[in-house]
Parts: sequence; C-alpha cells; structure tokens
Amino acid sequence: MKLHNFRHGCGSLSFMLPILLPALFTALFAPLSYASSTDSSVQKLRHSRLLKSALQHQALNEQQSDLWTPLPNQGWKPCINSTSTSSSLPESFGYIQVFLDGGLNQQRMGICDAVAVAKILNATLVIPYLEVNPVWKDTSSFGDIFDVDHFMNVLKNDISIVRELPDEYQWSTREYYASAIRSTRVKNAPLHASANWYLENVSPVLESYGIAAISPFSHRLAFNNMSMDVQRLRCKVNFQALTFVPHVRTLGDMLVNRLRYPGYIHQVVDTDQGKGVGKFVALHLRFDKDMAAHSACDFGGGKAEKVALARYRKAIWQGRVLNSRFTDEELRNQGRCPLTPEEIGLLLAALGFDNNTRIYLASHKVYGGEGRISALRKLFPQIEDKKSLATSAERAQITGKASLSAAVDYYVSMHSDIFVSASPGNMHNAMVGHRAYMNLKTIRPNMALLGQIFMNKSMSWPDFQEAVVEGQKNRLGEIKFVMSENNLAKHVVVVEGSVVVLL
Ligand SMILES: *[C@@H]1O[C@H](CO)[C@@H](O)[C@H](O)[C@H]1NC(C)=O
Ligand SMILES: *[C@@H]1O[C@H](CO)[C@@H](O)[C@H](O)[C@H]1NC(C)=O
Ligand SMILES: *[C@@H]1O[C@H](CO)[C@@H](O)[C@H](O)[C@H]1NC(C)=O
Ligand SMILES: *[C@@H]1O[C@H](CO)[C@@H](O)[C@H](O)[C@H]1NC(C)=O
Ligand SMILES: *[C@@H]1O[C@H](CO)[C@@H](O)[C@H](O)[C@H]1NC(C)=O
Repeated sequence: MKLHNFRHGCGSLSFMLPILLPALFTALFAPLSYASSTDSSVQKLRHSRLLKSALQHQALNEQQSDLWTPLPNQGWKPCINSTSTSSSLPESFGYIQVFLDGGLNQQRMGICDAVAVAKILNATLVIPYLEVNPVWKDTSSFGDIFDVDHFMNVLKNDISIVRELPDEYQWSTREYYASAIRSTRVKNAPLHASANWYLENVSPVLESYGIAAISPFSHRLAFNNMSMDVQRLRCKVNFQALTFVPHVRTLGDMLVNRLRYPGYIHQVVDTDQGKGVGKFVALHLRFDKDMAAHSACDFGGGKAEKVALARYRKAIWQGRVLNSRFTDEELRNQGRCPLTPEEIGLLLAALGFDNNTRIYLASHKVYGGEGRISALRKLFPQIEDKKSLATSAERAQITGKASLSAAVDYYVSMHSDIFVSASPGNMHNAMVGHRAYMNLKTIRPNMALLGQIFMNKSMSWPDFQEAVVEGQKNRLGEIKFVMSENNLAKHVVVVEGSVVVLL
C-alpha cells in the first residue's frame, strides 16, 4: 500500500496504523487481544540512569519561564465562513450514506469528509453510521456521541442532512451491504480520492438509484486540490458543527475543574512560584498492545515481551508489517517507535516541567500495565485520569464505552494548557489540527531526534536536556506546514492530517 505523504515530519506510522488496523483485524484478534505480559518482574526501564539524574536535577530545574505561557499570536485567523449565503440549497441528487470504521478520532475525520463529499455531489447526507470497532467494541451511535441537532443546525445552509433515510430507502442498511454485492454500494474509493473521482464514480450511482452507500470511507477524500468552499466546510464541520453530547461536556468540564483546582479532591500544597498553578498538561499515552506490536520496536520488556509481541504481530498481520524488517536501532533512527511512558516522562522533565506539574492521562490502557507507568509517576506524581478525578457514579454513562471515553479525553485535552502525545496517530492528528486552529500549545515530539538520543546510553542529563530542548524548538503548535502543491491558497493548511483553514 503506497500512501501519498505530502507532509513533513510525520512518519508513515500515523497513516499506516489507522488504515491497517481496521482492515486487517480478524476473528483471531479477540482471544489474543487481552492475553498480555503484565509480568511486573520484567525490567521495563530502559533509561534508569537518565531517570535517576532527572529526579536529582528536578530540584535544580529553574523552570523555563515561558513553559506555560500561551502560544503567541501568529497572525493567523480562523476562517469559517458559511459557504452558502442563500438559504436555499441546490437540488439534491440523492442520499449519501457512509459507514465509518476506526476509533472515534478516525470517525471524526470521516464525518468531515462525508459532509464535504455531500457538498461536492449536491447530495443529502444521512447522519453517518459508526461501525463497531473490533478493538474498542463501543456500540454508541453518532447521536450517542455528538449533538445531532447542533450538527444539523450549524450546517443547515451548507448541505442538507437527514437523520434517517425516508421509508422508500429503508432497505439500504449495513446488513443489506454485508450480505451480497449491491449496486448502490461504492466500495472502491481510493485513498485520498479527488473531487473528480466522486463526480465521476458516485454521481452516476446517485443518478441511477437515488442513493449511494460509501464503504469503506476512512481517508477517502484528498486534502489537496479541493475548492476553498469544500476546505472551509471541512473546518466548519470539525471545529464548529461537531460538539459532544451534553453529558460528555459536563463530565469534561468537571474533570477540567478538578485538574485546575485540585483542592476539590486532594489536599493541595501549591505554594509554588506561580508558574503552572491552575494549569495542566494533557498527555495522550497511546501505548497499547497492537501499537507496540505494530511498531516492531523493542520496549525493554526483555525476551518474553519481544516474543509475545512478535507472536501477536504474526497472528494479526501475517508478516505484512513493514517495520518488522528493520532492526530496533533502524526504527529508532527513523523515529518510528512510539515513546514509552518512561521516555515521555524524560522528555517533559528535560523540557523543564517539574514534579508539581499536573498531568491528565488521556489514554485507553497501557501495555505492560502499572509497571510501565511507574517511571512517569516518579517524575510526575500528580498524574490524574478519569478514574482518579471522578467517582464511578460520575463516570457511569461512559464506563465501558471506548468512544465516549475517547470523547471525554478529547474534550479535556482541548481544554488543557499544553497537549503532548507519545506517538503519532489519529488522536494526535486530531488534536494537533484542532489546537492549531485555536492557537493552543501542543508539543509535537520530534520522534527521530528522540529515537536517536535515547539510544545513546552514555549521555549525561545536561547533554540530554540540551539536545531535547534544541530538538523541540518550534514544535509547540506553530503553523508552518503550508501546502505547496495546492493551486488554491496558502491559507489552507494541512496539519498532521486535519485541514485547517486560516487567513
Ligand atoms: C519534588 O522534587 C523535590 C526535589 O527533588 C522534592 O523535594 C519534592 O518532595 C518533590 N515533590 C513531590 C510531590 O514529589
Ligand atoms: C465570507 O463570505 C462573505 C460572503 O461570501 C465574503 O464577503 C467574505 O469575504 C467572506 N469572509 C472570509 C473571511 O472569507
Ligand atoms: C451543485 O449545485 C451548485 C449550485 O447550484 C452547482 O453550481 C454545481 O454545479 C452542482 N454540482 C453538481 C455536481 O451538480
Ligand atoms: C485539481 O482539480 C481540478 C478540478 O477539480 C482538476 O481538473 C485537476 O486535474 C486537479 N489537479 C491535480 C493536480 O490533481
Ligand atoms: C552520546 O552523547 C555524547 C554527549 O553526551 C556524545 O559525546 C557522544 O558522541 C554520543 N555518542 C553517540 C554514539 O552518538
């Protein structure tokens, strides 16, 4: 699978994962999935020397004064404009139905693209169907996660949207398409298809049948060479039309409040010099088993872990994981290894975050369990998550629901002063795009640089710190990727997989 990559700095991993995972999971997945190596006797620290120095130096760390200051205004302004000034929409040529796989953030991008495709085709969009992901297993529908009334209302002058198909098309269901080849299904949309592709291939289906069901649909609309109207509309969907249901926002606000004013739950000793008080970092720590296995990197869990991950890789991907051809060293040099919790802790410490820093852990589950997180906790004792901040009664509506939990994480992460993620992926991309749009600080780890310096086992803490600070310069969410191959405008920016329209 050759993927078109026109961006800098973002390895193929971010695109490979979301596409590979849903496509290749088999029934094999389930029984293996949660068999794990959580054996805590396994040595999980790869950088114990650096960790020791980091802990010693924390006292001396004069915190970098600008660490918590907001990102300076870069002169960009968000440009969301109604694409249609008249209240009458062009006549609809039929219904567009999409079935979205992946986790919540991949589905979010799919929703933006679905609205764009409906616009390109002058079609009526049916509220997208969210597939149940074999890993996350959440059956929540669009309306269980997003505020449908708000969505339809914000977009009412842009495209027409219906909650459900009218009676005459009720036959067009997921089951209908799963059971046989159907002429109303479009299943061959290429990755990053152009507007013309849709006009040439989907318009005729609409014309003949009045409906087209597009599946698969993830990453099926190009970022470049789209009309300005379409790009603006994608932004409007992503940053304005998509809001979470009230109970997710309420829980999110509660968590944000408790992070900012921790006295509510914990006894606080915040007599600190003022920096970072009432502020928090959201850390997306995606380090689950499939990610670890897919990367083919060595995470220091010893032989048992290596064997377990290799076996898992073989069972799921049957040798189709490109990374497994490289040595661990090669992968690290290329920045293809997700940062472990220990490494992300060292990164934050090197950047000057001290042990009073409050960190919100936005993550599902960490492969290797608590043993894997302990180094991070040593550096940053004030790590919180949904469980530590809210009672099980307060979390009842999201418990056991991966997509709703991810929605809460998204909400809290958008409200954090600083966001950082340990590996590229859909959540990372969604955050980097949305936060760039809002001009919010986002640390984008320089994976290749970090991969290299973490391999140097003789580096002293001051040298490590200097190398990290140097390598992370200008990686705080500044907008700098401008699509050069775009014939339209330099104010359409694609930031790690999100379209961001700025002036
Ligand atoms: C933070 O580090 C300082 C200096 O090492 C230490 O005295 C203090 O107890 C630490 N605070 C916490 C909450 O661990
Ligand atoms: C928004 O749309 C109106 C009407 O089409 C146009 O006059 C205005 O310049 C647009 N604003 C931006 C920021 O593009
Ligand atoms: C959609 O409607 C607009 C406005 O009426 C029109 O300019 C455009 O050509 C139509 N597109 C298609 C694919 O019919
Ligand atoms: C860009 O889109 C236009 C019309 O949509 C098309 O004619 C042109 O070939 C496309 N250019 C590229 C480089 O894809
Ligand atoms: C490791 O880092 C030190 C500086 O701390 C440097 O002198 C040395 O050359 C590096 N070693 C390698 C193999 O890059």
